[in-house]
Amino acid sequence: MADINVTIIDREGNLHELIGPTDMSMNIMELCKAYELPVLGECGGMAMCATCQCYLESDTPLDEQSDAELDMLDQAFFVKSTSRLGCQIHLSEEIDGIVLRLAPEA
Ligand code: FES
Repeated sequence: MADINVTIIDREGNLHELIGPTDMSMNIMELCKAYELPVLGECGGMAMCATCQCYLESDTPLDEQSDAELDMLDQAFFVKSTSRLGCQIHLSEEIDGIVLRLAPEA
């Protein structure tokens, strides 16, 4: 499987072009942390903290949100219609070219 391109826009508006492996069961939160971007991922990817919240800025088709993700976003701050939990977006070839903007820290 190939690596994919992921663009992250940080909270200052800077673009970061990341390369994500699709064969390591990684998600966007973990990829951001690997690149030392300011994503806390406090719950370790369990959809229980929302510190990995980001906004989808590309027209990348993503899987439906799980009930756990929707419940967490229900309680989070700065939520928009494009909000997603980074830890619930798994790196796969389907999301190559995705653009995400980090949500403000709550
Ligand atoms: S890391 Fe906690 S909700 Fe994503």
